[in-house]
Amino acid sequence: MAVTSIHGMWSTRLAFILAASGSAVGLGNIWRFPYAAGEYGGGAFVLVYLICVAAIGIPIMMAEIMLGRRGRQSPINTMRTLTAQEGRAGSWQVVGWMGIVTAFLILSFYSVIAGWALAYVFRAAAGAFNGIDGVAAGEIFASLVGDAERLLAWHTIFMAMVVLVVSRGVASGLEKAVRYLMPALFVLLVVMVIYAASAGDFAGAIDYLFAPDFEKFKGHAGEAILSAMGQAFFSLSLGMGAIMIYGSYLGRDASIARNSVIVASMDTLVALLAGLAIFPVVFANGLAPDSGPGLIFQTLPIAFGEMPGGQLFGALFFVLLVFAAWTSAISLLEPLVAWLVENLSFSRVRASILAGLTVWLLGIACLLSLNEWSGFTVFGKGILDLFDFLTANILLPLGGILIAIFAGWKMARASSLDELRLGEGLVYRAWRMLIRYVAPTAVMLVMLNALGILKLIGLD
Ligand code: TRP
Repeated sequence: MAVTSIHGMWSTRLAFILAASGSAVGLGNIWRFPYAAGEYGGGAFVLVYLICVAAIGIPIMMAEIMLGRRGRQSPINTMRTLTAQEGRAGSWQVVGWMGIVTAFLILSFYSVIAGWALAYVFRAAAGAFNGIDGVAAGEIFASLVGDAERLLAWHTIFMAMVVLVVSRGVASGLEKAVRYLMPALFVLLVVMVIYAASAGDFAGAIDYLFAPDFEKFKGHAGEAILSAMGQAFFSLSLGMGAIMIYGSYLGRDASIARNSVIVASMDTLVALLAGLAIFPVVFANGLAPDSGPGLIFQTLPIAFGEMPGGQLFGALFFVLLVFAAWTSAISLLEPLVAWLVENLSFSRVRASILAGLTVWLLGIACLLSLNEWSGFTVFGKGILDLFDFLTANILLPLGGILIAIFAGWKMARASSLDELRLGEGLVYRAWRMLIRYVAPTAVMLVMLNALGILKLIGLD
């Protein structure tokens, strides 16, 4: 069993926590969580989301780190090594391949949204938000997403940033980017919440986010629950091998369980803070919580436009949002780059450029779906929305089920016991029960339920 990865290792245990939280905390928390919660009426969604993080997310995160650290390679080769070790079918490598496809799809739209954030840095700095109301904020947003050329420019810049960091490698590239930026984002988010609490409808927001009202699930409960679960996978970066490869750079002495709980808690905290920063502004300005992917881009500018120093503060906020997206995006590219280096002997730089170019091309289709190609839809969704839906709600949970089954059923008990190093205690046994029974069944049921299959066979 390899003790280190050929791609390098995290220099300290804190570096892993920072990198994994850097992967987890991103647009998923600040852009996606509020709009998904808003789409399904708030509290009930948040409750289901929290349950999914605790009962499905943390156990699967532990499993991913465990597999990665034991295999010490890209997810595809890690699965190959582990299946050989455990005497299982090589076809489990499909976990790694599926992850690559999923990463391509996610990163292609992720980069476009990160491009919105980039564009907003300059708008905020230029004072474009000063004194605007909800209508003006909506117009500013619409004029950005309607302009394919501008979106292309920002998307290109963001992908170049991602390729740059990934091409520099684990210790000098990935690690450096997260060390200062994550704490800064956190501080700024807290300031935003304080501002929203003093100037916005804070009580309304608390009530909206934390008083579950399952009436709001009526008519689309299956879809709402799937969406909350999908959000948990997306936000924790689970189900496609990103956390797995970060685990492959983690030293043997680190506690997988503790790290997983820390990363998941930070991620959840940031999502909730984002909700508390955004919804008070939504309600105070009579905006609709279910206005979709544009939600934060139509609400936060109003707050920046009102607050003293909002020009500087707004620019800073979007800078940090870009950084959060950046540290997430690198974890989406890393598994493929590692594989290209391992199997095709590519240099890291060449591998990063090739992978980045592919994502960049796919991203063009995403950004065009917002304007030129807006008439083209599949299942009523444009390409960007389709990729978003398909990855979070289907591909990541599917990857998660496979990872759970492999870690819980196909890997010998002795192997997971050895790798998790928890001893035979309660924590290990709880993990094993969650990963063997709870996680796979829950994910399966939620997916079947959303497809309406439970109704068909009379179980719902
Ligand atoms: N978790 C990130 C976010 O919330 C996005 C992300 C990074 C991701 N790596 C991932 C999502 C792997 C799914 C899988 O913004």
